[in-house]
Amino acid sequence: TRKPIVAIDGPAGAGKSSVTKMVAQQLGLFYLDTGAMYRSITWLVMNSDVRLTDEPGIAELANQATIEVTETYVKVNDQDVTQAIRTPEVTANVSAIAAQGAVRQVLVRQQQEAAARGGVILEGRDIGTHVFPDAELKIFLTATPAERARRRQKDLERMGQPAEDLAALEQSIAERDAKDSNRLIAPLRKASDAVEVVTDGMTIEQVVAKLVAMYRSVA
Ligand code: C5P
Repeated sequence: TRKPIVAIDGPAGAGKSSVTKMVAQQLGLFYLDTGAMYRSITWLVMNSDVRLTDEPGIAELANQATIEVTETYVKVNDQDVTQAIRTPEVTANVSAIAAQGAVRQVLVRQQQEAAARGGVILEGRDIGTHVFPDAELKIFLTATPAERARRRQKDLERMGQPAEDLAALEQSIAERDAKDSNRLIAPLRKASDAVEVVTDGMTIEQVVAKLVAMYRSVA
């Protein structure tokens, strides 16, 4: 028997990463950022001769890649890509790569293996619907597009990335969500048994406290 699994899904910029990290810390769970895995493959493709549309070529890259996602750094084939996978260029291309079935097959298997023993909180788009449909707790974390654009702007600032216009950010977030929601394989969806948490007007601490309380009531 495995320990509990918590699935946190939702659109871009909903605050999933910061919230998930803090919930993991408070509950003593491992934390797995699955978006970092799709970003890592995207970075790898962009830094290779393989084209973004070459599905078999990308699948081969993904199959041979060693991705190490930890709470503090991300490495691909032993190279530190913690910052490199967060650039606007990678962000603009990641949805096209994540839509490819062969890539998802490789990464989903790695996610299932990494979390097989439970005691893990996973963050992504398809955790509750596909990766762990039997997760003990499923949260669909969201916020209005304007709120998410504001948060993303602050994130970029904090990471020392060049400033981006709020309207442009809202536009690119909306485009990414549309691509992630409209793809054929494992699209972004709230699982029917997920609890939707709309975080507009809530502080990170309030969201974390709510999720911790929800976990304690089921685990
Ligand atoms: O969460 P993050 O914004 O880092 O995710 C980057 C991209 O990776 C998403 O826009 C989506 O295309 C893809 N992704 C996915 N399935 C997941 C996690 C992320 O398709 N479980």
